[in-house]
Amino acid sequence: MDLQLKDRVYLLTGATRGLGRATAEALVADGARVVVSGRDAASVAAAAAGLGGPDRARGVVADNADPGTPAALLAAARDAWGRVDGVLISVGGPPPGRITAMTDEQWTAAFGSVFLGAVRLAREVGAVLGEGGSIAFVLSTSVREPIVDLAISNGLRPGLAMAAKTLADELGPRGIRVNGLLPGRIGTERIVELDSAQGDPEAARERASAQIPLRRYGVPEEFGRVAAFVLSPAASYLSGVMLPVDGGALRPL
Ligand SMILES: NC(=O)c1ccc[n+]([C@@H]2O[C@H](COP(=O)([O-])OP(=O)(O)OC[C@H]3O[C@@H](n4cnc5c(N)ncnc54)[C@H](OP(=O)(O)O)[C@@H]3O)[C@@H](O)[C@H]2O)c1
Repeated sequence: MDLQLKDRVYLLTGATRGLGRATAEALVADGARVVVSGRDAASVAAAAAGLGGPDRARGVVADNADPGTPAALLAAARDAWGRVDGVLISVGGPPPGRITAMTDEQWTAAFGSVFLGAVRLAREVGAVLGEGGSIAFVLSTSVREPIVDLAISNGLRPGLAMAAKTLADELGPRGIRVNGLLPGRIGTERIVELDSAQGDPEAARERASAQIPLRRYGVPEEFGRVAAFVLSPAASYLSGVMLPVDGGALRPL
């Protein structure tokens, strides 16, 4: 199948590693150009170089919590290639912990980067996308089912999914699609950190894998390919969908 990505330009936040980076790799492999962001300058430079250098990938050092980030990303794409076709909004996950242990400061910081940062990016990028534009939010299976010890994710992601669904209504008449991706356990550094926080990371991985119908964690490339398809024109009638990429782990339909 031709994803029709050749020379299309996508913005990807939180894309120096993990799910954002894997999606950038899948897009570039099929001929797209990308602007990738993260907060650490060295990681941003390494990611842009690893994705093919200035002809294929540009890097922007930017924090999703910063109100100036959408404009900086859009400017980088316009300066390099004069067009923008979509955005993948990923960001570092909120800290683990229970509701009874999380502080106001932790909630406020996570709201700024995970929630408001994502809504702002979608709003500002959506305002300039043309017909065929595509916005994808990297969310979590916590949209549908609470995850033990990830209280802030459980609190913020369902609301973000409903914001994405609402935006699909608002932007659909302009031919712009909006979707959410719900990763379960994909083996990125974030997941290694979460497993390590439980003491014995190998035992944590075995316990979690036993709950997944496919009996294993996903690899980032498996997420990246799905996300690249959702962003691409090949998915031209897919909008307002929250799509699990979880090896069958979610029990609700
Ligand atoms: N991996 C999974 O299976 C899984 C499952 C459910 C949900 N998720 C969610 O999916 C998202 C991505 O997960 P991941 O596994 O790819 O995480 P990851 O491996 O920790 O990668 C996060 C990426 O985002 C960047 N980043 C972090 N905070 C940022 C900020 N405020 N502004 C801009 N960039 C930022 C990081 O670089 P810098 O730190 O240098 O900025 C890095 O490039 C997270 O929100 C996570 O909670 C992941």
